[in-house]
Amino acid sequence: MPVTGSSTWLVTGAAGQLGRQLVRVLASGKIAGDVTGFTRAELDVTDCAAVHEAVTGSRPDVVVNCAAWTDVDGCELNPQRAQQVNADAVGFLREACDEVGAHLVHVSTDYVFNGEASDPYPEHHSTDPVNAYGASKLVGEVAAGPSATVVRSTWLQPGDLPGMVGRVLDSLESGTPMRVMDDRRACPTFVADLAPVILRLGAERVAGVVHATNAGVTSWYGFAQEVALAAGHDPDSDLLVPIAEADLDVPRPARRPDYSALDNAVLRDMGWEPMRHHRDAVADTVAGLTGMGS
Ligand SMILES: NC(=O)c1ccc[n+]([C@@H]2O[C@H](COP(=O)([O-])OP(=O)(O)OC[C@H]3O[C@@H](n4cnc5c(N)ncnc54)[C@H](OP(=O)(O)O)[C@@H]3O)[C@@H](O)[C@H]2O)c1
Repeated sequence: MPVTGSSTWLVTGAAGQLGRQLVRVLASGKIAGDVTGFTRAELDVTDCAAVHEAVTGSRPDVVVNCAAWTDVDGCELNPQRAQQVNADAVGFLREACDEVGAHLVHVSTDYVFNGEASDPYPEHHSTDPVNAYGASKLVGEVAAGPSATVVRSTWLQPGDLPGMVGRVLDSLESGTPMRVMDDRRACPTFVADLAPVILRLGAERVAGVVHATNAGVTSWYGFAQEVALAAGHDPDSDLLVPIAEADLDVPRPARRPDYSALDNAVLRDMGWEPMRHHRDAVADTVAGLTGMGS
């Protein structure tokens, strides 16, 4: 995904898995421009005055909001805090961006949908969140305003930590069985593939909702099988035990959508190259973790 021109960027939630990746790419010099990443300790986005000061003080071209309260069960138990972090704060960022002419890129989620579909959700599909996290993120999308880019993605996989891929490898290599949910489906998306898309959307100031995921729909169990295959293990190994969400040892307070794959229709209509299949990203991650690629 080419990003041309030089810009100054402000990234909130810079210690999170997506925020870290964006700051890393922007600081690497591969894209012309400067970046300031604010962790929660450096900028609490629920502090309206601090948001105003950070944005108007640095006058960035683009603000990418990666700050969010992503603890889905925590949000269910404390919807007021979810509203503050995932919704009210987005309004503060929008106001500050408007004041200095900065473009806002706000990151959102598949959890704005109810999960009753059987085909990937396009951007124009009606929303209907089934939990407080999704509800707060949906209010955040509106608070971002019509000129912002709202990027929805699903099942983010980290760029600098072993994550789910590492956990599956540990299980297979240590011979420790791992129970993996098989009754929810979406598009596992690696932040290393998502970051360049977000940066191009920001640089080009694309307005509106944009779905951005790696290609391929699977369950967590299917994902684990792909990890096994990439690492040269038997994907049908007894060590990987498919379970239903109802089989979890401790029931979770928040309901999740059963099916939340996203159709990247807007990116396709703009003629952008599709993001690669998550299987290829799995293979790269496995190679990096096991040294198979070196
Ligand atoms: N993870 C997924 O599977 C997924 C899927 C779809 C969409 N998304 C969306 O993608 C975005 C990035 O998610 P992620 O996976 O990178 O999440 P993450 O790793 O949980 O990162 C979120 C970051 O936001 C910070 N934060 C929380 N409250 C804050 C506040 N009041 N002020 C400033 N920062 C605050 C967190 O800091 P602390 O850790 O210190 O609280 C954390 O560093 C979010 O908008 C999320 O809704 C995520």
